[in-house]
Amino acid sequence: MSDNKKQLQDKIDAAKLGGGQRRIDSQHSKGKLTARERIHLLFDEGSFEEIGILVTHRTKDFGMEDQIFYGDGVVTGYGTVNGRTIYAFAQDFTVFGGSLSETHAEKIVKIMDLAMKTGAPLIGLNDSGGARIQEGVRSLGGYADIFYKNVMASGVIPQISAIMGPCAGGAVYSPAMTDFTIMVENTSYMFVTGPNVVKTVTNEEVTSEELGGASTHSTKSGVTHLTAANDLDCINQLKQLLSYLPQNCEEKAAKLDYEIGDEYRDELESIVPESANQPYDIKEVINGITDKESFYEIHKNYADNIVVGFARLGGRSIGIVANQPMSLAGCLDVESSKKAARFTRFCDCFNIPLLVLVDVPGFLPGTDQEWNAIITNGAKLLYALSEATVPRISVITRKAYGGAYDVMNSKHIGADFNYAWPGAEIAVMGAKGASEIIFRNEIKASDDPAATLAAKEKEYSDLFANPYSAAQRGFIDEVIQPRETRRKLIKAFALLENKVATLPKKKHGNIPL
Ligand code: HXC
Repeated sequence: MSDNKKQLQDKIDAAKLGGGQRRIDSQHSKGKLTARERIHLLFDEGSFEEIGILVTHRTKDFGMEDQIFYGDGVVTGYGTVNGRTIYAFAQDFTVFGGSLSETHAEKIVKIMDLAMKTGAPLIGLNDSGGARIQEGVRSLGGYADIFYKNVMASGVIPQISAIMGPCAGGAVYSPAMTDFTIMVENTSYMFVTGPNVVKTVTNEEVTSEELGGASTHSTKSGVTHLTAANDLDCINQLKQLLSYLPQNCEEKAAKLDYEIGDEYRDELESIVPESANQPYDIKEVINGITDKESFYEIHKNYADNIVVGFARLGGRSIGIVANQPMSLAGCLDVESSKKAARFTRFCDCFNIPLLVLVDVPGFLPGTDQEWNAIITNGAKLLYALSEATVPRISVITRKAYGGAYDVMNSKHIGADFNYAWPGAEIAVMGAKGASEIIFRNEIKASDDPAATLAAKEKEYSDLFANPYSAAQRGFIDEVIQPRETRRKLIKAFALLENKVATLPKKKHGNIPL
């Protein structure tokens, strides 16, 4: 090998060793893979092309000129994942703890620009001690450059963040502005200020895991949409998530081959209990309607009174928003409204049709809800659905009461098809509550108030606790048997494939944030 060829090879070999074997071993001992191992697992064999492998930092302070590592703590490039072009960066914790220098940031920004120009998703594998302490403000500038690009790329290409180690301080704001975040259990954490600062300022004693581990952010804060048991599971979930998404906002997600055949699903007939007050699991309805084993839930353990996620229906990728009667009777509250609104907007950005399954007794009452702005937060979902131009279909499986009926993708806010099952109750409120208000005097004056209430309840129920009043007005397009729901939906979404809808000319709307 000639000298210059050997020189190149030596540099590449050195780059591939990152911070050296000792630090690689240390990474493994924490149960974590290295940046290159993660990249290797993510991309199709041999497809990854690295960009900027020879980049080094430019810092001369604190003896840094003697500590040069090729790549500067981040592996960046593109390749294919299941045959589709994807860009990725993977922070290398073995080099200065994966900390972000000016050059490290430049490498990330470069692939973000390329991803936008060529219209392909971007995945960030984050594992970093934060700002490169030796660089000071140059590192902060690098972060801001990334934040700005995150915002520019939002709605143009899907952006997904995997948190596979530390992610602290302002560094958390890049993942926060991407579309989805997935955290690895026990080895990752995210917080703006760590346990030491928390102790100093508030005197609270808390561990990193309690403050910002995967379990905290998947249940309490909702900061992460998904969690993974380990690095391998994380990479596999990234691939699964990608499979439902298109490359960019101009495209549609890939449709798998599908021919309508025997689409009746008898199991849908017996899911909703006879008694309107008995809970059932809406996920059984979702699985009954969608292609077998295709449902991939997002935000599973957060605000579980609403279920959101992706699935396939007749081979087509769809987003699902569904009230969950098993939790808070399926009421809408602050957290569930935010969760569903954000998911709705993602689907609308990327041309993913929406199926809304409705069983909602209303908004959750109480001071807690009012003081935490259920008005503003409920409006988020109303706004997001009203604004969505993707195909939108609703199925009311049971209750659709009050304002929540309007919010949950009603005909009035632009749904394309609205179906109801025969047991659906579409009314201002439940029969008991309604009777207590409108027949109050009659009940009070009666010799047997309980019997009068029951009679009035039945009267109200017969009149309104059904789908027919709404169907007569065309608010419901069709009342359908549960077993034929899947077939109806496959046909309706196929019909809506070429739906064209535009919003009035504006700079942008003002969603109630
Ligand atoms: C430079 C860093 C670094 C950093 C870690 N290292 N963080 N180098 N800048 N921010 C180096 C360490 O010196 C060490 O080098 C190697 O990475 C591994 O670090 P360890 O401490 O040995 O690892 P571990 O015990 O696993 O602890 C990881 C850690 C800890 C919790 C992340 O390193 C840590 O607290 N780092 C500092 C975090 C921090 O304060 N960052 C700045 C936050 S401010 P050697 O040579 O020994 O391998 C911020 C602002 C962002 O990020 C603002 C954006 C707007």
